[in-house]
Amino acid sequence: EKGMYPHYMMKEIDEQPGVIRRIVQKYQDETGAFTIAEDLQAAVINADRLYIVACGTSYHAGLIGRKLIEEKAGIPVEVVVASEFGYDMPLLSEKPAFLFISQSGETADSRQVLVKVKALGHAAITLTNVPGSTLSREADYTLLLHAGPEIAVASTKAYTAQVAVLSILAETLGKAQDIVQVHDMAHELGIVANAMQTIIDEKEQIQQMVLDYVATTRNAFFLGRGVDYFVSLEAALKLKEISYIQAEGFSSGELKHGTIALIEDNTPVIALVTQPHTQLQIRSNCSEVQSRGAKVAIVVTEELAQTGDTFVIPNTALELTPLVSVVFTQLFAYYAALSRGCDVDKPRNLAKSVTVE
Ligand code: M6R
Repeated sequence: EKGMYPHYMMKEIDEQPGVIRRIVQKYQDETGAFTIAEDLQAAVINADRLYIVACGTSYHAGLIGRKLIEEKAGIPVEVVVASEFGYDMPLLSEKPAFLFISQSGETADSRQVLVKVKALGHAAITLTNVPGSTLSREADYTLLLHAGPEIAVASTKAYTAQVAVLSILAETLGKAQDIVQVHDMAHELGIVANAMQTIIDEKEQIQQMVLDYVATTRNAFFLGRGVDYFVSLEAALKLKEISYIQAEGFSSGELKHGTIALIEDNTPVIALVTQPHTQLQIRSNCSEVQSRGAKVAIVVTEELAQTGDTFVIPNTALELTPLVSVVFTQLFAYYAALSRGCDVDKPRNLAKSVTVE
């Protein structure tokens, strides 16, 4: 039940700090170390490449997962869109393993890939919120999200739960191979949960930003590089899905190779800036669009914030900033939909679980 909340989406956004803390607990053993079934770990470690297969928001979580697993566990990862991959399969590596990410565990596009790779004899893992779901039953191993039921069509807490479990998987796989870990992931995820809460507590400020930036706009752009680019894809999907504003996420460096032609006076451009090694480049891309009339908002971590930036998010471990910046974008989409009188929890033309290909 949504209780005191006006919409399930707001309830589910609000639940996220608690979900992250619950995931940490669920994956910890008595000593506080993360544990994941050894045969599941072995399936990934013995593979020469991990293919992450998913759709929509779960695909976007997979993009962050790739970074985490490659960085912390040194395992090459490819992230693919299920509906493309199943029918246009690239040359696979010699010994691949597959990780299906699906909140519902019922997505037909992902399932057709699972059926195909099982027939080829490859190992398959499903990361899902629903124990006993089709994708969970048909895979060799299951990792659970522990996010609680997600009712709103627009996925919020499932995305952050997916990224959190992927970070735990990445650390566990790294440790299993004696790769030195820079951070203690359990501790860092605790910091993330607090940072998410800080943003949720500042939601009125985000609501005001919506009025300032997208009140009457037809389109909007989200920019970033690296993980900020991956979050900008998710930010754009969320905004289009529930507010019907035509939104796109771009790698900020690609803008000048074509898309910048779309920038007009007052086109809203929201830049996510959380990574020190690319902040100068993103800022310079922002100046380029600003000088062509764009209305630029810079969403930035405390550490990188400069005078005049629009919204500041708390610092966290650099590879976990997506868990925090995405909360800003979820609230942004929520208020945009609300201000336009859209049906937040049940956007037009969409179903919660997509069981046709
Ligand atoms: O249940 P799944 O994670 O497999 O669903 C995949 C997508 O259909 C889903 O993430 C969709 O993109 C969401 N409505 C986005 O908010």
